[in-house]
Formats: sequence, structure tokens, C-alpha cells
Amino acid sequence: MKETLIVYGTRYGATTEACAVIQKILEKEYDQHVEIWDLENWHACPDLNDFDNVIIASGIKYGEWTENSRKYLSNDFGSKKVAVFISSIYAGEDEHYEHAYEKFLVDVLEEHPNLKPVAKAAFGGRIPKEQLPNIAPERILIRLPEHQYDNRNWDLIEEWAHQVGKLFKED
Ligand SMILES: Cc1cc2nc3c(=O)[nH]c(=O)nc-3n(C[C@H](O)[C@H](O)[C@H](O)COP(=O)(O)O)c2cc1C
Repeated sequence: MKETLIVYGTRYGATTEACAVIQKILEKEYDQHVEIWDLENWHACPDLNDFDNVIIASGIKYGEWTENSRKYLSNDFGSKKVAVFISSIYAGEDEHYEHAYEKFLVDVLEEHPNLKPVAKAAFGGRIPKEQLPNIAPERILIRLPEHQYDNRNWDLIEEWAHQVGKLFKED
């Protein structure tokens, strides 16, 4: 059985829910023992040395990862398999997906040339209804109709979990 660590940064819980779905699939179908960790609690984070595989995830706020999830990318992952995803409202919109993928994922990973993820993905996100009035309009490109405040595509997230599961299971 392989040991897998899922670490994530979240502000409103959308990334947490995606991680939980991925965890279940990896455990049930790909023979992984999975530990899941909110990087808000940085100091007690499980020891990376205890894991074969790692998934790193972050929600995006005004174009930024959470501070700790971004900091986590600087670890030395050695020969571990690493997969990365982000949760962002832009990534869930067809016309903004490319922007989100490049700006929030590819550009951030380019700052860590030693980190070569086996898989990476930009998924849609969820803005809690109560946050909608707080969003600074000049700092976010798109205005969403209220019914689109959750544009996560669970089929895509599950499909990616299967893809990652197959890669993580291989020796
Ligand atoms: C104040 C605020 C700013 C946001 N800024 C962005 C942004 O710049 N780009 C984007 O794609 N999504 C943005 N979002 C949407 C979040 O990325 C989305 O809600 C994501 O799923 C949040 O993940 P989390 O709940 O794990 O933090 C913003 C949401 C809020 C509430």
C-alpha cells in the first residue's frame, strides 16, 4: 500500500471538499493510505518523508494561492510523485479557463523548476453567497450571475482523481 499526503490551502472550504472527494477515490480504488492536511496548521504538518506521493492544492483569491500552500511548493520532493491542483472561479468558466490555468497554475509552478508534477489541474470553485458582496470588483475580472457561484465540475475532479490514482499506484 502506498502512502499519500494531500495538503491544501483554503479560505472558504471549496478546496477542502475537492480534496475529500479525491481522497476517497484514492483510498477505495487505488490502494493508497491517504492523510489529508489543511496547511493553515503548518507546524504540525505530517512529515513529508513518510509519504510516497503528494497532492498539493490551493484556492485562489485575487489571483493568489494561500501563503502556506505556496510555501509548501518549495519543499524538496525528491523522487516522490507530486500532483497539483487549484480551485478558482475563472477555471470553471470556459472563456477564462486558459487564463486561470496559465496564471494560477503554470506560472506558479514555473517558479519551482525542480518540482515536476506528474499531473496538474485547474478546477472551478465556489464563492460562498455571503462573500459575493465583499468581492472588490476592481480586483476580479468576471462578474458571475448568482446561480453560478459554484462552478465546480465534480465529474472533472473525479476523473482527475482516477488519473492520479493510476499514476500513484505504479512503482
Ligand atoms: C474575495 C474573493 C476573491 C477571489 N478572487 C478570485 C480570483 O482572483 N480568481 C479566481 O479565479 N477566483 C477568485 N475567487 C474565487 C475562488 O477562487 C473560489 O471561490 C475558490 O473555490 C475558493 O477556494 P477556497 O474556498 O478553497 O478558498 C475569489 C473569491 C473571493 C471570495
